[in-house]
Amino acid sequence: MTHSIRRKSKAEPAPPTTLFLFGAHGDLVKRLLVPALYNLKRNGLLGEGLRIIGVDHNAISDEGFAQKLEDFIQSEMAGKGDHTLDPVVWSKLAKGISYVQGDFLDDSTYQALAAKIADSGTGNAVFYLATAPRFFSEVARRLGAAGLLKETPEAFRRVVIEKPFGSDLQTAEALNACLLKVMTEKQIYRIDHYLGKETVQNILVSRFSNSLFEAFWNNHYIDHVQITAAETVGVETRGSFYEHTGALRDMVPNHLFQLLAMVAMEPPAAFGADAVRGEKAKVVGAIRPWTVEEARTNSVRGQYVAGEIGGKALPGYRQEDKVAPDSNTETYVALKVMIDNWRWVGVPFYLRTGKRMSVRDTEIVICFKPAPYAQFRDTEVDELQPTYLRIQIQPNEGMWFDLLAKRPGQALKMDNIELGFAYKDFFEMQPSTGYETLIYDCLTGDQTLFQRADNIENGWRAVQPFLDAWQQDSSMQSYPAGENGPKAGEELLIRDGRVWHRLG
Ligand code: BG6
Repeated sequence: MTHSIRRKSKAEPAPPTTLFLFGAHGDLVKRLLVPALYNLKRNGLLGEGLRIIGVDHNAISDEGFAQKLEDFIQSEMAGKGDHTLDPVVWSKLAKGISYVQGDFLDDSTYQALAAKIADSGTGNAVFYLATAPRFFSEVARRLGAAGLLKETPEAFRRVVIEKPFGSDLQTAEALNACLLKVMTEKQIYRIDHYLGKETVQNILVSRFSNSLFEAFWNNHYIDHVQITAAETVGVETRGSFYEHTGALRDMVPNHLFQLLAMVAMEPPAAFGADAVRGEKAKVVGAIRPWTVEEARTNSVRGQYVAGEIGGKALPGYRQEDKVAPDSNTETYVALKVMIDNWRWVGVPFYLRTGKRMSVRDTEIVICFKPAPYAQFRDTEVDELQPTYLRIQIQPNEGMWFDLLAKRPGQALKMDNIELGFAYKDFFEMQPSTGYETLIYDCLTGDQTLFQRADNIENGWRAVQPFLDAWQQDSSMQSYPAGENGPKAGEELLIRDGRVWHRLG
């Protein structure tokens, strides 16, 4: 039996499986997972044998649960202007939906799950822990104790978990150890939803299927790399979660490092789970571990105060719901990291992320070294500007080269021009929650887009010096909502003779 296969060139319907959704009444299930399952069903990627079983402590009948999901999706889709729910597709999916009421910490819940598998007609099962992180170890341990994680040549058993995978290196190691006591790495699907984004997956395809990229993808031609995830949203209803998390833990060891890994990894020997994840773990493991002092000077923490976005007045972070009035949690972070390997030595990677910034913009900017100026010495060109490759993950997915061209006219003058590719101009974009590929890959046993234990731990290892430095010195910069972070975030680059690429 092979549970880890190479990425498919043609998508076949997923095999019969019982999919348990722990935390069935939560937002993740309603907003993202079930709509993604519906999209997969509509695209013919779920076979007849998929059964979806909600697991949670609230009482509700099977029909009531299916109806609740349907109502929610109807309103979500209407809200987003997507297609209306196709009743034929939905009824086929709904036929397989049922519900188990149970406490995650009660052994009898797991007996009920075993009974469900026993009468499913297939031994294949996926346990999706869409729960608060404090339940990850507890549920995994109980699944193991109930014998539900035992695989046979005919039947797979898989567990899906979502970030946060721990809150520092020590807790991440403890979580991995706990999971690996009751299952093998091949059974664990750690989701980072950034890897479900088309443009993120496209980074690998662009780099490794177009040979021209490799020629300049190194420290001879690249001056530095910027990775930004700017959001206009604040902490919304998640104040109590965010208070203990902050921008660094929430975004850096996971989403931003995934982007860094996609840009910086070596070509894998094959486009399969082991090879791709091995290279990603290696490059994240090569991030230079700063001393505490270096971490302090190479990081900026910020928190938004009242401001406005698009003419709308917005409160400061400390005035948000479930946030302490004297909170010292950062909502913005900017970092400089170095990768100590042959390809990247001397090339800084600047990372920043923040809430309540001026625009929503997740992008990677590869900044090339300026060409030698020699040929233009006796012309009106003062100096050659650096050129860029901008990979925009969202909202306008695509890639653009920002190059120099001659301005028409008799004098030799240059201007910036753009060579670009926007996804929407080339491909028909299907409505998607971003979870379709991840769920499908899990059902078909492809771990390429999921995080391996070493990848997670290497990420925390690189972030730990910043956490340690802030433990000693937790000084905070402020920025008004609607601006792009504090001044110190700009200075992190200015002191190196560089500037952040303009957002938006
Ligand atoms: C989540 C974070 O993992 O990613 C959120 O917990 C953040 O705070 C979100 O808003 C960003 O995701 P996306 O897909 O909107 O960029």
